[in-house]
Amino acid sequence: MQTFYIETFGCQMNAHDSEKVIGTLLSEGYRQVAKPEEADLVLYNTCSIRDKAEQKVFHRLDEFKRNSQGKVFGVLGCVAQQEGERIFERAPHVSLVAGSASYAKLPEMLVQLEAGGRRVAGLSLDNDQAFETPFTKRDNPHRAYITVIEGCDKSCAYCVVPFTRGPERSRTSPSVLDEARELARMGYAEIQLLGQNVNSYRDPTPAGFDFARLLRSVGEVAGIRRVRFTTSHPRDFVKDIIDAIDDNPVLCNHVHLPVQSGSSSILERMQRLYTRDEYMRRIDWMKQARRNISITTDIIVGFPGETEADFDQTLALLDEVQYDSLFSFKYSRRPNTSALELADHVPEEEKSRRLAILQEKQRAIQIRRNSEAVGTIEEAFVEGYNHATGQWIGRTSQNRPLNFVHPQHAGPGDGATLSGANLAGTWWNVRVTRAGANSLAGEVVL
Ligand code: SAH
Ligand code: SF4
Ligand code: F3S
Repeated sequence: MQTFYIETFGCQMNAHDSEKVIGTLLSEGYRQVAKPEEADLVLYNTCSIRDKAEQKVFHRLDEFKRNSQGKVFGVLGCVAQQEGERIFERAPHVSLVAGSASYAKLPEMLVQLEAGGRRVAGLSLDNDQAFETPFTKRDNPHRAYITVIEGCDKSCAYCVVPFTRGPERSRTSPSVLDEARELARMGYAEIQLLGQNVNSYRDPTPAGFDFARLLRSVGEVAGIRRVRFTTSHPRDFVKDIIDAIDDNPVLCNHVHLPVQSGSSSILERMQRLYTRDEYMRRIDWMKQARRNISITTDIIVGFPGETEADFDQTLALLDEVQYDSLFSFKYSRRPNTSALELADHVPEEEKSRRLAILQEKQRAIQIRRNSEAVGTIEEAFVEGYNHATGQWIGRTSQNRPLNFVHPQHAGPGDGATLSGANLAGTWWNVRVTRAGANSLAGEVVL
């Protein structure tokens, strides 16, 4: 085997795991190719958060059923951990199944595959260390992910993550800070700290940093201009995090705080460990902050037992909080989860109806909120160029897309002329002139 192809599904933690897997494979002498047809080793790094996500990998594997001669197939990530060796039965052309806690053993597993191993599995979750490797191959040259905590110790009734990612393991603060400094030295300007619940971060060294302290320290690394973090669990979210954001403009004024439902009785059924009022207290901290903090969330509609009145409370919560953006999902039954046992599952059509109402309401809120930004000047960090619209693609500290035109830089050319320079990775002050539901547009201020 010489070449590999990898496709990644799921959240940022999976995206970052893939960067580590790619780095590890490259260091073992493999070459990455862009199409599965060209690869000796085809890997899928999978997500199991909802049923649809899980089905994707089996579709991919089915596409190859007949044409798999000479190739080795591997399933990594959350479906691998959840389904384990059953995957070998369901898709007999798969010969590697490995969950995220086993990636440190990838080189060993590759040796077994090279030796003709037909069913190589890495499924142990008792790995007490986070997956740290010197070989990460980062996908983006300007923005880098750093995992600070793996796994999840909560037991939300709907969620597979505690089963697919295992118990919480925090990285040491020196290890996180060394990586941040190294990234700054390499020229990265933005860091995103990752964990399923970053707020339960506990430094295992005697320094004993909590998450707010770690965040402050990463924000002080010379050369880093933006620090983001995701995801926060409301129960463990402390005011010190807001104070840290207020104290240092490097820490982005954006907090993603998944609420899931606006009804306290549904929150209890979900085992979220907070009430609506407790959640709102955290929202109030953000609204009272000196900086203008943008707030985003995740919502599940149609959780078992969710009545029309419960759903109305979620709609009312949207009015009250005025989120800058949200991700919304229909409840999906997941294996092993305690919600399977609950009564009163909501019919599929009803979930769809609620989802549409919720999304429509949020769209109106976003149009209004974004239009409030028209006329202001925001700093945009450039991520790329959109040839269709002729605009540079930027992002504000609040995590809003801000696309803009630049009179002296019409677009990325060959870099030989000033007007042909690629602005990706540069910073500009932009006057916002237009607002849509999902993005802002403007002109550079020179
Ligand atoms: N650790 C994060 C969530 C990770 S999963 C947290 O605690 O907030 C991302 C989102 O997927 C969740 O916030 C939830 O809204 C959604 N989700 C998780 N399980 C789901 C399920 N079974 N059905 C529908 N949505 C789900
Ligand atoms: Fe899932 Fe809850 Fe853990 Fe988030 S906190 S990963 S929703 S169990
Ligand atoms: Fe999906 Fe696993 Fe992330 S289930 S959302 S890839 S932790």
